[in-house]
Amino acid sequence: MDVRIIDETNVQHLKSSQDDAILKNMCKILVTGAAGFIGARVACLLAERGDEVVGVDNINGFYYVKLKYARLKECGVECENEDILRGKWYQSTKFPNYRFVRLSIESKEAINLLFGSEHFDKVIHLAAQAGVQFSKKHPYEYMKSNLYGFEDILEACRWHKVNKLVFASSSSVYGMNQNEKFSEEDPTNTPVSLYAASKIANEAMAHCYAHQYGINCIGLRFFTVYGPWGRPDMSPMLFADKIRKNKTIKLYGKGEMIRDFTYIDDIVHGVICATDYELNVKHCPNKVPFRIYNIGNGHPIKMKTFLEALEKTYGEKSKFKLIKVVRSGDVIRTSADTSRIESELHFKPKWNLEDGLEEFIKWYKSDKNPLK
Ligand SMILES: NC(=O)c1ccc[n+]([C@@H]2O[C@H](COP(=O)([O-])OP(=O)(O)OC[C@H]3O[C@@H](n4cnc5c(N)ncnc54)[C@H](O)[C@@H]3O)[C@@H](O)[C@H]2O)c1
Repeated sequence: MDVRIIDETNVQHLKSSQDDAILKNMCKILVTGAAGFIGARVACLLAERGDEVVGVDNINGFYYVKLKYARLKECGVECENEDILRGKWYQSTKFPNYRFVRLSIESKEAINLLFGSEHFDKVIHLAAQAGVQFSKKHPYEYMKSNLYGFEDILEACRWHKVNKLVFASSSSVYGMNQNEKFSEEDPTNTPVSLYAASKIANEAMAHCYAHQYGINCIGLRFFTVYGPWGRPDMSPMLFADKIRKNKTIKLYGKGEMIRDFTYIDDIVHGVICATDYELNVKHCPNKVPFRIYNIGNGHPIKMKTFLEALEKTYGEKSKFKLIKVVRSGDVIRTSADTSRIESELHFKPKWNLEDGLEEFIKWYKSDKNPLK
C-alpha cells in the first residue's frame, strides 16, 4: 500500500501519541484479512512504523481477486505467476519486517501452527466474510469465516498466550436501533442480516475469552468505510463504476437511507490506536478486559446526498433511479456516537467527506485502480 496516501499528519499524530516505550519496543503483530480493504492499509502502516508484521488472507473470491493482489503488491507482496500460493511465505520487497502467507482462518491446524511458530505479541483480526446482501445467497460463508474462523483465532490466542486481540465488528450490530446516535451502550439484539448476527456473536465470543482467559480484547465497530482501494461491493465504488459506464444507479429506500461514511485513514488510525492502547480495566464492566468502541465519522448523510457529493468530485452527473423498497438486510440508518473512543483512546476521526471523496476519486481514476 502506498503509505504516502496515508495522511502525514495522522502518521505524525500516531507517532507522537505513543509513548517512548512503544516506539522503542515495537511488537510482532498478526494482521488477518491483510489483502482486504482495511487490512492491507493496517499491515502497511504498521510495517512502515517498524513493527514486525505477519499478514494472512485466503484471498477469497467475494470480489475481484485482482484488487486484492494489487493491494498486496502495494505492500511489496508480489507473486511471480499471478497467483499467491497457499501456505507459502512471501517476503515484502518494500518492508523487510513484513511477510505474508495465504491461508484460511478456519484451517484450525494451519492457524495453530502459525501461532506456534511465530509467537505474536498482538493480533489484529480483520478477516471476515463481509457484506450484507451476499449473506442471503451464501449464508454458510459467514458461519465458516466469521464463526469458526473467529473461534480459531480466539483459541490460538488462548493457547499461544497472545494477550491482545483487536477485532473488527460493525455498525450493523445496531440493527433496528432508532436512536439519533448509536452508542456502545445501546442494545444489539435486533440484527437484520446474518452478517450483523455473526458480528454480534463475535463480540460475545471475545467477551467470554476475555473473562475466562484474561485475553485483552477490543472490538471495533466500523461505520461504512470508503476511500482508495475500497471494496467493489460497496456504494462508493459501485456508484463510481456506474458513472464511468454511464449505467443507472439504484437508490433504494428512495435515497433516504442514511450512512455514516468514514474515511479509510480514520479507520486505520483508530485500529492502530486500539492496538497500542493498554486496556484499562477500570473502564470495563465487571473488570473483564473487554471493550467495544465505535469508529465512525459522526456526520451521517442520506445516500442521495452522498451520490451528489460523489458526482461533484467525479465531475460527472449520474443516471439514477429512486427505488421505494428497502432491501431486507439493509438498515435504515447508521450514525456513530464516538464519545467513548474520543475520551478513552483520545482518538477523533478527522477526515471530512469532501476531502475523503477527493482522495477516493483521485485513486479511482488513476492507474493504481486495477478495476478501471
Ligand atoms: N468496509 C467496511 O465498511 C466495514 C464496516 C464494518 C465492518 N467491517 C469489517 O472490517 C473487516 C475488514 O473489512 P474490509 O472492508 O477490509 O473487507 P474485505 O473483504 O476487503 O477484507 C477482508 C479480507 O479477509 C479475507 N478473508 C475472508 N475470509 C477469510 C478466511 N476465512 N480466512 C482468511 N482470510 C479471509 C478476504 O479475502 C479479504 O481480503 C471485516 O471484518 C469487516 O466485516 C468493514
